[in-house]
Amino acid sequence: MSFVSHLECSLTGERVAAGGPQTVSPAGAPLLVRYDLPRLARALSKAELAKRPPGMWRYLEFLPLRGREDILSLGECETPLVALPRLGARLGGGEILVKDEGRMPTGSFKARGLSIAVAMARAFGVRRIAMPTAGNAGAALAAYGARAGIECFVFCPEDAPEAALREAALHGARVFRVDGLINHCGELVARGAARMGWFDFSTLREPYRIEGKKTMGLELAERLGWRLPDAIFYPTGGGTGLIGMWKAFRELAAIGWVEGRMPRMVAVQSTGCAPLVRAFDQGAAEVREPWAPVETRVHGVRVPKPFGDRLCLKVLAESGGFGEAVADEAVEAMRAEIARSEGLNLSLEGAACAAAYAQALAKGRVGPAERVVLFNCASGLKSEMPAVTRRLDRHAPIDFAALGTG
Ligand SMILES: Cc1ncc(COP(=O)(O)O)c(C=O)c1O
Repeated sequence: MSFVSHLECSLTGERVAAGGPQTVSPAGAPLLVRYDLPRLARALSKAELAKRPPGMWRYLEFLPLRGREDILSLGECETPLVALPRLGARLGGGEILVKDEGRMPTGSFKARGLSIAVAMARAFGVRRIAMPTAGNAGAALAAYGARAGIECFVFCPEDAPEAALREAALHGARVFRVDGLINHCGELVARGAARMGWFDFSTLREPYRIEGKKTMGLELAERLGWRLPDAIFYPTGGGTGLIGMWKAFRELAAIGWVEGRMPRMVAVQSTGCAPLVRAFDQGAAEVREPWAPVETRVHGVRVPKPFGDRLCLKVLAESGGFGEAVADEAVEAMRAEIARSEGLNLSLEGAACAAAYAQALAKGRVGPAERVVLFNCASGLKSEMPAVTRRLDRHAPIDFAALGTG
């Protein structure tokens, strides 16, 4: 019952048959899944969609699974749009909505891509998967791998956040800390894949993960009454969400479900690792040199040269968007402000989007009347939180009045 017509090389446009485990195109570039959209539009209407239960599986026709029997689920939900009115008022900006992906299984948006990619691998009879990851993707791979009965190998940079690594190990993945960055982990996966026949699940080296990420765009469009926001701020490492959401909007436009102006897509990176922001500002079509040295605590964007660089830069150009790099200090200050004033615990990556929005508003890159959506791609509980340093000796005299000050 799938509406997939073929796979397409993102560089040359060459058609590749779907229906078996695929990695990259013959030209070595990411493959994109193409659908028979006219047939899809005849099979599904907005009214029909509105009757279905919430969550990503309501968009099955836009997904590559052969049918409902392929669904691999851990209870994926529709993630909420949480408004930040106090921040908007302080900045003198417009409506700010946070799409909080931290509510997904394994606490991050990685669940969307990996539920689909692991389901497809299972359908094709894959037995072993390996992946380089900053942490959250490894945790999601391990969880869905456990569910599917597929063995998983996870390679992380030495300083990847502890919680996600332990989570991946808890789900039974073989987790390794590597003395290097994510690209070094990727090199190990490629070597292991050649030697051991592992299926390489590196970002955009298989075509189905971005199809899962596409559901962020579908969900957002439907929730906003099929009227897309003015701008979307997305914390960009490998760029799967940026590419996936843009693909969703293009598919929706092709079948006439969304009309009018498309959102400007904004790639948020760190001043300590901003290869896409730099390349876009230089008018380049790709990232020529890997970013060095990589210096940021925002782990999700620590990707010195993303494999999908051309696709990401194309999304920014086509959408009239831009790249915005933010300093760690601004990210941490923003996270603390939103946690205290709005009650929302953002991951560092989500806080980076808020900091980038503030910066873009101050520069006039977004207007004060514009509605923006910021992506919080993981629960704040997955990012390190400031230590609690106040102590009390219950045997000593306590000045209770002083507890509320200082
Ligand atoms: C919380 C979080 N935000 C953003 C990203 C970057 O995502 P993408 O690879 O889609 O650019 C990651 C990836 O590790 C992440 O874990």
